[in-house]
Parts: sequence; structure tokens; C-alpha cells
Amino acid sequence: MRAFSGIQPTGIIHIGNYFGAIKQWIDLQQKFECFFCIVNQHAITIPQNPKALKKNTIDLATLYLACGLNPEISTIFIQSEIKQHTELTWILNTITKISELERMTQFKEKAKQHRKNVNVGLFDYPVLMAADILLYKTDVVPVGEDQKQHVEITRTLARRFNKIYGQTFKIPEVLIKKESARIMGLDNPFKKMSKSAKSPLNYIALDDSPELIFEKIQKAVTDSGKEIVYNPQKKPAIANLLTIFSLITGKSIKEIEKEFQGKGYSEFKQKLAYEIIEFLSPIQAKKRDLQKNEKYVFQVLEIGKEKAKIIAKETMNRVNEKIGLI
Ligand code: TYM
Repeated sequence: MRAFSGIQPTGIIHIGNYFGAIKQWIDLQQKFECFFCIVNQHAITIPQNPKALKKNTIDLATLYLACGLNPEISTIFIQSEIKQHTELTWILNTITKISELERMTQFKEKAKQHRKNVNVGLFDYPVLMAADILLYKTDVVPVGEDQKQHVEITRTLARRFNKIYGQTFKIPEVLIKKESARIMGLDNPFKKMSKSAKSPLNYIALDDSPELIFEKIQKAVTDSGKEIVYNPQKKPAIANLLTIFSLITGKSIKEIEKEFQGKGYSEFKQKLAYEIIEFLSPIQAKKRDLQKNEKYVFQVLEIGKEKAKIIAKETMNRVNEKIGLI
């Protein structure tokens, strides 16, 4: 059984990305043959500084390793190094309906955010994602909830291709962990925590310093009242902070509610900040170590590229054969 997933190297990687995606990946490595990609071609659908993009790409690979992805058992690679991703995108484009892409929530949101640059790549983003997944004969795609729609269109395209050209692609399943499916913004509990948020107070980045984490948690919005109870309808901000607390410590929400019974927001927030700092500190230390050994990171990516290439080529040959492309 194979798993495939990826993250865009757009600079900030936050705890939503960690718990929605990376944490799941770490656990899956034991059970699945895993492919973890750094999807730099997706990133350029929004303008990127070339130097920063290169740096962020290597930085994200380093972070994958620092978080505990194991290159001995998983394949870690950069999207742009495997040309078949864009090759398959073209093929899938020919069976994708414009109306299907117009319905994509992420496209509609991004188009609103970048009104002056609603480029064709941004529109076609889900098809590139479908190509990523289908190239590797993927069984499961571990992601946060915001990517569910993209996996659904991947399934539609795979079925459609199989119907037109004969059995070729596996139909992948989306894998979403209920507890961490959607971490909300610290400054707005009605919107997901997001890399592209206007204010850094929206997220805790995995790279944030202890001082910054402390400040962000202190400034996180809370709800009226003063009790620490989990009630997403009436107390969405506290519910989100409780979710984060639970994910970070491994304690159940019930246990945490009990721990803070009769205590106020201030004490709860202080403890939460402390727990996040403790949690991120070994990841940050490991990342600093790896940064001193960039050669190793490049080596991992080189091996990943070679492993990914074999499967990608094989799938693409099969696809071209089915279509009649010489
Ligand atoms: P990206 O880079 O926006 O996010 C990476 C992963 O983090 C998850 N995520 C969240 N999970 C919980 N709460 C949040 N607030 C939160 N914000 C982000 C995302 O769901 C994702 O799993 N299109 C993808 C990248 C991609 C991909 C793929 C993923 C490209 N090709 C193939 C899987 C398979 C994206 O933009 O993720």
C-alpha cells in the first residue's frame, strides 16, 4: 500500500501543516510505502522570489527530516525534479472540465486574494495535484481537510481516464485525521490557520522562537466567559486552543478541561505556550543540526529523486501507450 502527500515550500510551515499532514505521515511510515514531495511547482502559482523559493525548498526538505520523516523507509523528493508531474498534468487537462475547476474552493479563495494574478496555473493547480498522486499509484493521501476537494477531483479524473482508455490508475482514498483536520487561526477561529494569512498572529510557525510563541498565544483571541470548556459552537477560539493543547501534549480534551477547571484563560494560555515551546524545541534543534550538514539533505533528495523517477516513468509510459502518444 502506498501513501503520497506534499507541502508547498512557501516559507512558513505552521502547526496546522504539522498536525494536519506531517504528524500523520510520521505515523504512516511504518505501515505504508510513503512518498513525500516538496511541491515547488504548485508554489509558483503565486509569485515567488526565485532565490527564496530555492532556499525554502531545501528548508522544507530539512524540516521534513527534522520532524521525523525517515529517508531509509520513505521517499523524499522535489516535484520539479520529476518531469512526469507536468507531463501527466497535460494529459489530465484534456479530460478535465473547466466547470469542475471553477468549483474548487481553494481556487475561488486564492483568486479573490490575488485578483491581479488569476493565472492559468492557479486554475489548473488541482490537476497538477492529481498528477502528483496518480503517478505513484497511490492508495492513500494523508492531508488536512482543506485538500479533500482536490483529492476528490483526483478520484474523478482517475475514474474518467480509466473509463476512456482502460484500467490505468488506482483510485486513491483521502486520509484525514478528525482531531487535526482543520486547525483554526489564532486571530480568527472561524478561518483555518493559513500560511498566506495577513498577520503572523494567525499561526505558530514551526520555526517560531519561544518569545514569539509566547506572544502569539497571549494575543490569541478568546471567547466571552472565562471557563476552559470545549464547545466549538459557543466557544470556537477556546475549542481551537484546546485542540492544539491536546495535539501537542497527547492528553484528551476531557483531561485538559479537568486540569483547568476553575482556572482562567491567562493560566491556560501560559501553559499552552510553554507546551508548544517544549514540543517544537527538539524539532528546531534537529533542524539546526541538519542545516550544518546540507550535504546529507541533498543526498536524501538525490536518492528520493531516483526512486520516484522509476515509478513516474513507468506510469507515464503506460499512460502514453494507452492514449497512443508516440
Ligand atoms: P499546503 O502546502 O497548503 O498544506 C500542506 C498540508 O497541510 C494541511 N493544512 C492544514 N491541516 C490542518 N489545519 C490547517 N489549518 C491546515 N492548513 C494546511 C493541508 O491540508 C496539507 O495537507 N495542495 C497541497 C499540496 C499538494 C499535495 C499534493 C498534497 C500538492 N500536491 C498531492 C497531497 C497530495 C497544499 O497546498 O498543501
